[in-house]
Amino acid sequence: MFNMNDAEGYDTDKLELTYLKNYEEHFEPLLDKDIRLLELGVFKGGSLLLWRDHFKNGTIVGLDLDPCPIEDKTGRIHFYQGQQEDIVLLDRIARETAPDGFDVIIDDCSHIGEFTRMSFWHLFERHLKPGGLYSIEDWGTGYWGDWPDGKRYKEPQWPSGMYKTVSRTAAFIEKITRSKVGFRCLSRAYKLAYYKQRFPSHDYGMVGFIKQLVDEAGMGDITYPERGIGPCRPSKFEKIQISHGQVIIIKSKS
Ligand SMILES: C[S@@+](CC[C@H](N)C(=O)[O-])C[C@H]1O[C@@H](n2cnc3c(N)ncnc32)[C@H](O)[C@@H]1O
Repeated sequence: MFNMNDAEGYDTDKLELTYLKNYEEHFEPLLDKDIRLLELGVFKGGSLLLWRDHFKNGTIVGLDLDPCPIEDKTGRIHFYQGQQEDIVLLDRIARETAPDGFDVIIDDCSHIGEFTRMSFWHLFERHLKPGGLYSIEDWGTGYWGDWPDGKRYKEPQWPSGMYKTVSRTAAFIEKITRSKVGFRCLSRAYKLAYYKQRFPSHDYGMVGFIKQLVDEAGMGDITYPERGIGPCRPSKFEKIQISHGQVIIIKSKS
């Protein structure tokens, strides 16, 4: 049984958050299997040791910009030094350690939206097994003003866009004609604009990238015949689970 409490004693920041708890149900069926796990961003290697000791028959692969000082007598940990956005290196890692694909990929790396996006789509499409799990940690950096690609959250302005313009025009016509005619003429447009207005939301850095992934989850509707843009295609995601700081995606089996 994979239990969050077993992780105490390992030098990893995952202990401070609920991430390990969220992994329990997904990792449970894999514990004894010959799985391939890749973690992008490993710092001192504490999480690599944690994964090695929990997946008793697994191959554990790590990537980081900096050297990783851990010792591993089992030979089941493989470490590569480099950048997460280096897709040539990602291909080499996959070729050497998981030619049939990874079962689990965890991104706890730069927490920069563009780098995360590049490695996500490259690894997800080419090197994650069907039904495999891809986790993105710390996506909330996009809400931080001092993060390289983040921005401090600002309450969205409501109402917005067309709705505002139409309602202002209706009010102006009503004022100059001193009647309700202007408003009545515009009431249909006013309603339509109200329904069609955008739901403004934060879209900087990692947060913007995660919201793009929500579009992928909705691909069945985006490409829905007649109503959508076609040609029809289902989402590449079987499931996307978004929680505080962590996104878990299960790749579709088809
Ligand atoms: C939050 S730490 C990883 C913590 C580790 N996963 C754990 O659980 O203990 C992030 C790591 O990502 C590495 N990193 C940052 N940007 C990177 C990049 N573009 N490519 C590769 N590694 C990067 C840093 O060197 C750092 O060690």
